[in-house]
Amino acid sequence: MGTHHDTHGHGGNERTADPDTALAKLLELDAEVLASYVSELTGRLAEHADPAPARILDLGSGPGTGSLHLARRFPAAHVTAVDISAQMLHRLRRQALAHGVADRISTVEADIDESWAEIGRGGSYDLIWAAAFMHHVADPARTFARAFEQLRPGGLLAVTEMDFFPLFLPEDAGIGRPGLESRLHAATNTRPPHEWTDHLRAAGFTLQERRPFEIRLDRTQAGPSLTAYAQACLATLRSHAADGLDSADLAALDALLDEEQPHSLARRHDLSVRTTRTSWIARRP
Ligand SMILES: C[S@@+](CC[C@H](N)C(=O)[O-])C[C@H]1O[C@@H](n2cnc3c(N)ncnc32)[C@H](O)[C@@H]1O
Repeated sequence: MGTHHDTHGHGGNERTADPDTALAKLLELDAEVLASYVSELTGRLAEHADPAPARILDLGSGPGTGSLHLARRFPAAHVTAVDISAQMLHRLRRQALAHGVADRISTVEADIDESWAEIGRGGSYDLIWAAAFMHHVADPARTFARAFEQLRPGGLLAVTEMDFFPLFLPEDAGIGRPGLESRLHAATNTRPPHEWTDHLRAAGFTLQERRPFEIRLDRTQAGPSLTAYAQACLATLRSHAADGLDSADLAALDALLDEEQPHSLARRHDLSVRTTRTSWIARRP
């Protein structure tokens, strides 16, 4: 996941000292609140995969929300999760233990832009998953080519990107000028969504599906973590917005993030989630 200001790569909840921990928490909340779309996506993979995948690779796994979904969806599969961050992988192993799937998830700490020797150990994969990750790599064409090499013929690659950070507030949030969140997004989501179709075809893949997910969840559908998710996302964007917003908007944003303030996210009942994701499911012929 990433805004187009590279927010995810370097973003951090200002109230959490370590950027990886802040990002991991955001990703865990994201997976919890948006669980229904991930389920829909892994359901589509189950339909495309025949037989069910036995060896799965999760590229740029982060804290492992994708690895866990996949381990649940494919109960006979082994998942190899790769990430450059030891801390992300530590969280992943803890979650895998808590969910009783530690024996089916292994971790590799590696820079995906460097050697894939460790990733390739143990033979080819049936499914490769790369969620909110491909925009991080130095050379996407090379990474798609390597993924192609690591898949067995007939194997699947599932790539997902968050097109834009989610929106949570009504147009008039009752604080500052209306349209605050739109202005925050304009200041931080500065690049167009990622588009991987041509890259996939150039690497030799056959595109099975390119699926946009338009996600609209009201408070009830989003569940009890909605407030924490909104706080994590807005705090991350806030940390990148200093140059792009005027002082009145920054003050309004700070008030939204301050739980003591009457209009704060923590005290509101009018939050919802609006976001879009795009997934590509491609096959090595
Ligand atoms: C936005 S997070 C997405 C994590 C996870 N796939 C998810 O959907 O929750 C991107 C992850 O890629 C990892 N990453 C970035 N560059 C990397 C690289 N060159 N090699 C391996 N991992 C990398 C980061 O550490 C981070 O955990």
